[in-house]
Amino acid sequence: MTEQAPKSKMSSNKQQKEDQLFNSRVIAITSGKGGVGKTNVVAGLATSLAKAEQRVVVLDADFGLANIDILLGLSPKHTLEHVLRGERVLEEIILEGPHGIRLIPSSSGIQEFTKLDTSAELRLIQGLQRIAGNTDWLLIDTAAGIHNSVIKLLVAAQEIILVSTPEPTSMVDAFAMVKVLHSIDQTKPIWLLINNALNREEAEETLDQIQAAAQHYLSKNINSLGLIPSDNHLLQAVRQQQGVVDLFPDSPAAKAFQAISEILMEKISLKKDGFNAFWKELSQV
Ligand SMILES: Nc1ncnc2c1ncn2[C@@H]1O[C@H](COP(=O)(O)OP(=O)(O)OP(=O)(O)O)[C@@H](O)[C@H]1O
Ligand SMILES: [Mg+2]
Repeated sequence: MTEQAPKSKMSSNKQQKEDQLFNSRVIAITSGKGGVGKTNVVAGLATSLAKAEQRVVVLDADFGLANIDILLGLSPKHTLEHVLRGERVLEEIILEGPHGIRLIPSSSGIQEFTKLDTSAELRLIQGLQRIAGNTDWLLIDTAAGIHNSVIKLLVAAQEIILVSTPEPTSMVDAFAMVKVLHSIDQTKPIWLLINNALNREEAEETLDQIQAAAQHYLSKNINSLGLIPSDNHLLQAVRQQQGVVDLFPDSPAAKAFQAISEILMEKISLKKDGFNAFWKELSQV
């Protein structure tokens, strides 16, 4: 015979579960210039967070060159496009990668989330509501550049990680991205991450210059997320279609991903009903 918990305790447990149910964080990873390492950053952070027992879902929102599946060693048969067309439900297309990371794969057939007809939108929202209950982080890999569809995703996300390398072209484009975002939403938290830095001085100079420009021209405070060094281990891992964090856990890049995931866990708080807020926002912008 099983003992029954007192009713008040049961209902407070239930209440606690309900309170936790849909809390999550929705983070979009973006850049001004292309090829600066966004997709590798998403894969590295997803792996580090998942290794720290966090439940991570990655959404590939680079509809032009969807490729995070390759970095996670996954081969999608079906994508979001099938969900939007009503041929599959979301759970059927989600792939499970290393450490339980779940990937929502995309394809170049999808134009924009924001131009969905009502039934496609409903299919997507209902699917996301179903997976929201067991997700701590939704990391969104976006396409490069200041396109309308990318900006809408960024505005809908809770916080943004902006990736730049120390190259002047990348820095200028990163600042251009901050300017556009600021013109739409002045309160959106932006975290600047310098990737592919040759050394700490170079990364710090890059961080300082972008932060100073944002402060001077926009009075916008940009948070620093630190740096990922230029690291050949990362390139080797990409060639082997595995994450650098798993393949070379002691490499400088892997250690940086781990340190940054710890900052994220400490600094970014759970948002109540985070998934829903994201999709509601996205369907309105
Ligand atoms: N820290 C690093 N050290 C060495 N190589 C790196 C580093 N980060 C990224 N790379 C390399 O830079 C290239 C671009 O990386 P990635 O595809 O992640 O960029 P991206 O910003 O997602 O590009 P796109 O804008 O096309 O989506 C890849 O060849 C990758 O292996
Ligand atoms: Mg990419």
